[in-house]
Amino acid sequence: MKILVTGGTGYIGSHTVVELQQQGFEVIIVDNLSNSQAGVVDAIAQITGIRPVFEKFDLVDREMTADFFRRHNDLNGIIHFAAYKAVGESVDKPLMYYRNNLVSLMNILEGMIANNIPNLVFSSSCTVYGQPDELPVAETAPIKKAESPYGNTKQISEEVLQDTIKSSKINVIALRYFNPIGAHDSALIGELPLGVPNNLVPFITQTAIGIRQQLSVFGEDYNTPDGTAIRDYIHVVDLAKAHVIAVSRMINKKMKQPFEVFNLGTGNGNSVLEVINSFERVSATKLNYKIVGRRAGDVEKVWANADFSNKELGWKAEKSLDEMTASAWKWEKAYRSRS
Ligand code: UD1
Repeated sequence: MKILVTGGTGYIGSHTVVELQQQGFEVIIVDNLSNSQAGVVDAIAQITGIRPVFEKFDLVDREMTADFFRRHNDLNGIIHFAAYKAVGESVDKPLMYYRNNLVSLMNILEGMIANNIPNLVFSSSCTVYGQPDELPVAETAPIKKAESPYGNTKQISEEVLQDTIKSSKINVIALRYFNPIGAHDSALIGELPLGVPNNLVPFITQTAIGIRQQLSVFGEDYNTPDGTAIRDYIHVVDLAKAHVIAVSRMINKKMKQPFEVFNLGTGNGNSVLEVINSFERVSATKLNYKIVGRRAGDVEKVWANADFSNKELGWKAEKSLDEMTASAWKWEKAYRSRS
């Protein structure tokens, strides 16, 4: 079975390629390396013993994408990760986000239709729920107005997909990620943000290793037990495994509708301070952090109702918060000692 993984050198993409190859799938990666490095392909080959095919081009380019699909019209499925994902940047550069995230999706869908490629797994986000009225939040919860252009690209993409399946033979599984963290146990792949990290865990590990001076904890006046915001952190390898299950479900014609949505979370919420405590415990280091004001656009608390995913996909996130922070730390140390 041959699978295209767009964004396959990125954080979640690379972990998914490893799981796919380990399950016997043949993988082709397309990535423009705008936020990742070609060396990730070597790392994947080192972990799995198999070098995935890698083509470097931009899926926003309609002709190149059409040409790619003409050359690879025998794909059994596509997992589409390639997208921009920085919330703050999307506020400053909305058109860059809309063009990149939406045009690439449309080019892929056109390529699928033209070549009768049936199956697409789409990277969506819990950001589509905004601040949910009910917690844990289930897939049936209402979609709230997006807080950022980034979030809006995920909402619009889901709509584009729902409209497209009505007039084509394409099947779609949209996976709504909560907060993926951690790294592969080999410490050969992990999260590698360019520049100053926006996300909590890479900021923690970079502070601990001395690249950043101090972590700012955004807000301690939330309506939560310790006052800091709560998220559903999920190990990236658990998340990657769900993609293999989703693509298999499509190929094996186990879908119950042509458009399905699944939450990928653990079902547990942890506060920012709990993540910091976990990190300090597993790394036996003291983290330099200070409490500052809230970050604009942050929701107070969100965690998944993962019952539907657990039941329908036969999948469950297995790794604990300590395993997540420990693997992120192992990766940070290994990466810095190599570079
Ligand atoms: C955000 C997006 C999510 C997106 C993800 C990818 C929203 C609501 N969420 O997740 O859709 O997929 O980024 O990048 O838009 N924090 C600190 N200090 C820091 C960094 C973060 O205290 O230096 C706190 C945040 O305030 C938040 C938690 O840590 O409470 C997690 O933040 P982060 O890792 O940035 O993820 P989200 O904002 O939840």
